[in-house]
Amino acid sequence: MRLIALQNLEAHKEHTLAKNILAENGQILLRAGTKLTAKLILRLQIRRIPYVYIDDPLTEGINPIDVVSEETRRKALEKTSTIINNLMKKKRDKIIGRDEFNIKKEVEAIITDVQRHPGSMYNMVNMQSMDDYLFHHSVNVGIISVILGVGLKYSKDKLIELGIGATLHDVGKTLIPIEILNKPGILNELEYDLMKEHSMLGFEILKEQPGIPLISAHVALQHHERWNGSGYPRGLAKLEQHEYARITAIADVYDALTSTRSYRKAYLPHEAVELLFGAGNHHFDYELVKMFRDKIAIYPIGMSVLLNDGRIAVVSEENKISPQRPKVRVIMNNDKTPVTESYEIDLYTDPKVMISEVI
Ligand SMILES: [Fe+2]
Repeated sequence: MRLIALQNLEAHKEHTLAKNILAENGQILLRAGTKLTAKLILRLQIRRIPYVYIDDPLTEGINPIDVVSEETRRKALEKTSTIINNLMKKKRDKIIGRDEFNIKKEVEAIITDVQRHPGSMYNMVNMQSMDDYLFHHSVNVGIISVILGVGLKYSKDKLIELGIGATLHDVGKTLIPIEILNKPGILNELEYDLMKEHSMLGFEILKEQPGIPLISAHVALQHHERWNGSGYPRGLAKLEQHEYARITAIADVYDALTSTRSYRKAYLPHEAVELLFGAGNHHFDYELVKMFRDKIAIYPIGMSVLLNDGRIAVVSEENKISPQRPKVRVIMNNDKTPVTESYEIDLYTDPKVMISEVI
């Protein structure tokens, strides 16, 4: 299978969807195996889905490894969307004291999946629509944080505390006026000040919940603090910010960068990792950023790339030692005609060939 930007899907060609597309509540929006007709492509465009995985004969056998299974992701999405939707619909007081926030089971499933794939890299491109951002973002941040926690050899209890806090880090946004939350474009100063309250509001919601460890509530409170003290709400610097929150901050920014927003298109994984490195010592714990880099597939399996000699290829295998030089399968010649038979190049052993662009 290969990953393709929706805008590059040609409506007159018959494409088959290779992976399910999930809605914000964890339900399947469109099933793998569906033929993508012009009408369906239009529907996906309207929902602003940026990428899809398609099956194509030249990339047969190329299968991204999901560190977290679709089933686990779906269940986490379902629970998170219930929490977020209920918070948005109801008055907060009605929720306090209920067991509704108990997301431990879903977080445990994420931990089990991650631990089942030791050494695997987070191999994912955000496929969700902008409108469902908060739901998918919450689950993605939970997953990435757990991957980092496993990398740090956290105990199961610590992974649960981290996973719960990371998944629910943005629940305070449910109390931010919807016009600000959904505003297309950059927020003005006043709106931004209001938006910034979401970390304190999230803490206040979570600290009242019987099923939520207090330290997880602190993740919501501290996820916008920055290494150099420039964050909010308290301007904590360096180790004053709890390690869970330092991890969540990296996962949060990475996932936000690689998601399509109303004011910009999504950054590709390698661009987002570069940006995180640029912010390195200023905004984030540099040691954690380095560990994060080793856990993220900067060229995810299935991604289409342009090589420096003009050929077009699809990433077929990641390289853990030298992530910028994965194995690729060539599908188009340098004159952009399809190859008669695809073949692989290992960019690690063939130093003259490199990736010049992701397409
Ligand atoms: Fe946030």
